[in-house]
Amino acid sequence: MIANIINEVLFGYRYAFDDCADLIDYVESFNKMIAGIATSKLFPLGILFPAIRHVPIIGWHAVEKHRATVRKNSDYILRNVTKALQSYDAEGEPTNFVHAYKQRMHSNEYLDEDNLIATCADFFSAGQETTTTTLRWAMLFLAKNQLAQEKLREEVHRVIGFDRLPSLDDKNKMLYTQATIHEIQRLANILRTNVPRKTHKPTVLAGQTIPAGTAIHADIHYVLWNDPLFVNPREFHPERYIAEDGKILRKELVDRTIAFSLGKRACAGEGLARVELFLALTATVQHYRILPVATATIDLTQQEKPIGFPIEQMLRLECVM
Ligand code: HEM
Repeated sequence: MIANIINEVLFGYRYAFDDCADLIDYVESFNKMIAGIATSKLFPLGILFPAIRHVPIIGWHAVEKHRATVRKNSDYILRNVTKALQSYDAEGEPTNFVHAYKQRMHSNEYLDEDNLIATCADFFSAGQETTTTTLRWAMLFLAKNQLAQEKLREEVHRVIGFDRLPSLDDKNKMLYTQATIHEIQRLANILRTNVPRKTHKPTVLAGQTIPAGTAIHADIHYVLWNDPLFVNPREFHPERYIAEDGKILRKELVDRTIAFSLGKRACAGEGLARVELFLALTATVQHYRILPVATATIDLTQQEKPIGFPIEQMLRLECVM
């Protein structure tokens, strides 16, 4: 579902539910690549210290062995960018990212087709696994915390009802839902060490000079799980975000829920991700009760990987009448 949304935004078409083999193939191959990268201890070193790539054997394990899946994924993007460009109409209003980008190329000398392909690949990869993983955590937290799930459903039914799909206009009337999504993102904590960045000039931070060329990991995990404002930070407690008057969210907590990071290089897809999380979650609890399977308990252990995947486990969905 999430990959299909990005596909439509970038290339202007969506796959039908019963005719999406191409997209599934891409997603599976992408997941394989991420799993390979996420479990590799050498890959982050290969990115931060490119010289490692030239060391025999270690270089192959660090980067080269992931290339085949990267190439397969790049082919999908290349095919789709090429196809979308064929329907570009310089006079028309753009209806997808590729057309909008192409239009901008006429007035911006820094934009070209290579960059367009790389940008589409970035959006596809950055936008798919992140939102999907957050939703997987959402299912687990809600299965484990039935009371919170019931409160969420009560608000969904009160504001949206049973018969129509949720829309973004509903969001402002749904304080508990907003609080729940913040709490899910805080605890899911999927990009704990953030995307690695590098200083390109000597930089003074809190009185400390960081030399040019230093690898930087802004520590999202520390804030989400250790900031003293989050009392009992390991507990799933959406109510923590709701102010005493029960009418607004606690801004000081929302401001510290930095799952999308902060600053100029913060997540470029934050707006889209927030829409996806709201619509997917409300539409699910509107119609289904998320439950553990009979004999199992939910395991919320965070895996020690660069992306905080949950442990795979079965859940049960029960129709809500
Ligand atoms: C719950 C979902 C998501 C989370 C938690 C998330 C989180 C992040 C984080 C932490 C970064 C690094 C920011 C930094 O370096 O300071 C990032 C970068 C980025 N994200 Fe997301 N993201 C999500 C969804 C998306 C979506 C849906 C898209 C696009 C469709 C997207 C596109 C990007 C891109 C393009 C970057 C790189 C921005 C840059 O380098 O300037 N993300 N994201």
